[in-house]
Amino acid sequence: MVIFGGAGDLTRRKLIPAIYYLAEQKLLPDNFALLAVARDKNTDEGYRGLMREAMDKSDEIHRVDDCVWQWLCERTFYASGDFTRNDAYAAITQRLDEIESHSAKEDRNRLFYLAIPPSVFETTLKHLCESKLARRTHGYEERPWTRVVIEKPFGRDLQSARNLNRLVLDEFGEHQIYRIDHYLGKESVQNILVFRFANSIFEPLWNRNYISHVQITAAESVGIEGRGKYYEEAGVLRDMFQNHLLQLLTLAAMEPPSSFTADAVRDEKVKVLHSVRPLVQDGKPAVVRAQYTDGTVDGKSVPGYSKEPDVSPTSRTPTYAAMRISIDNWRWTGVPFYLRSGKRMERRVSQISVQFKSPPFLLFGQKAVEEMAPSLLTMRVQPDEGISLRFQVKTPGAMHELTPGLEITPVDMDFTYAEAFGNEAHPAYETLLLDCMIGDPTLFTRSDEVEMAWEIIDPVLDYWDKHPDTELPTYPAGSWGPKEADELLDGEHTRWQ
Ligand code: BG6
Repeated sequence: MVIFGGAGDLTRRKLIPAIYYLAEQKLLPDNFALLAVARDKNTDEGYRGLMREAMDKSDEIHRVDDCVWQWLCERTFYASGDFTRNDAYAAITQRLDEIESHSAKEDRNRLFYLAIPPSVFETTLKHLCESKLARRTHGYEERPWTRVVIEKPFGRDLQSARNLNRLVLDEFGEHQIYRIDHYLGKESVQNILVFRFANSIFEPLWNRNYISHVQITAAESVGIEGRGKYYEEAGVLRDMFQNHLLQLLTLAAMEPPSSFTADAVRDEKVKVLHSVRPLVQDGKPAVVRAQYTDGTVDGKSVPGYSKEPDVSPTSRTPTYAAMRISIDNWRWTGVPFYLRSGKRMERRVSQISVQFKSPPFLLFGQKAVEEMAPSLLTMRVQPDEGISLRFQVKTPGAMHELTPGLEITPVDMDFTYAEAFGNEAHPAYETLLLDCMIGDPTLFTRSDEVEMAWEIIDPVLDYWDKHPDTELPTYPAGSWGPKEADELLDGEHTRWQ
């Protein structure tokens, strides 16, 4: 495995801990080797020391086993060089040849992980191919294999994503490309399909006849965490919606695939994206955006977005957005999907809530029915991963003013991963790295999928670009977003969960 950007934030915080976990569970072959490439001058030994420090700081690693770490260190190497320049590649090739000389020719599989900024992506890819470090293979079965992992953001709009796809597909086959969306590696996200298709009780209800609407939320209490430069360019639609939220939408809304193979699953996901009604209707997008101002999160005062480092004091970059999505197909016509995501919100919560329709017959009196909370199924992606089902029960003994003797109360039936399986959460990158190595692209975004997701988001970005004077509401850090987002909701009893 070769990581370009081997000293960067992603490598330290996510990739090295994930590789460590794979080693700990003995999921890496004995001839596994890691070559990290970065600009800084360093030695193999120095790099191993840096990574050990990163492990100690990682919030994903709770203990490091010295034997496992030693095993990994013996297989970790470092090459310094500016990978945007041609002359770096001779040294990388030499290191790789040395490392691989111990393996049989057919075992010299190469996984290139491009953990690098989008601005240097194109040049790095060209050098990688011209230097013959990475080569095209003609089918999934060919050995040794070469695979390339590409981090998000995949482009910054539809056109750049198309260009990027063209560039990588000129050099590699689709079977060699792994476009990462780390949400898909989360246990609770993978569980959406299992929950839907391994149980027969919910799927018959999973349609417009029984569901009133669906809310998909990815709220974060953190701000932009020192990534002002990136975030100013990205904003919340590129950072969270084009990828993570639309991925959750496709998993919640897709038809059952014909099999659990990568292409069958991804075909169904793409069909959902094709059925999404354009977000800009009657000349305006059905999207509310906003930016956080000074506020209090977890009891601490935090500055507004425009006061963050590397952010312009007059910035109009949205840190929050909410949208109403209509899926025009047989299953979902008339069922709105509300998507919402923001930084510096009251607390961290990502979930999909499926609200069922109210009962059709007013057996308990009009008022009782109006007051009744509808049945609600919530799939908690994080934290406290699990699923809960809210339904109505009779409150023991209490009296109701309209229907004497009967009061109705909502209660939750709850499953949590921690309770059922213990607290050993597996980081998303662990699953995804393993999938790249074994060659299972199910949890990765295919070229048509990534472009289709941009087709949905692009017109909104374009509208905002062309209408720079459109109002940008604000919300205090530590709140649940701007009040304007309430106006997106239709139906008298619809509230944000
Ligand atoms: C990343 C975004 O893709 O996902 C970040 O760039 C965001 O801005 C992060 O904070 C959220 O991921 P997670 O796994 O912490 O919910």
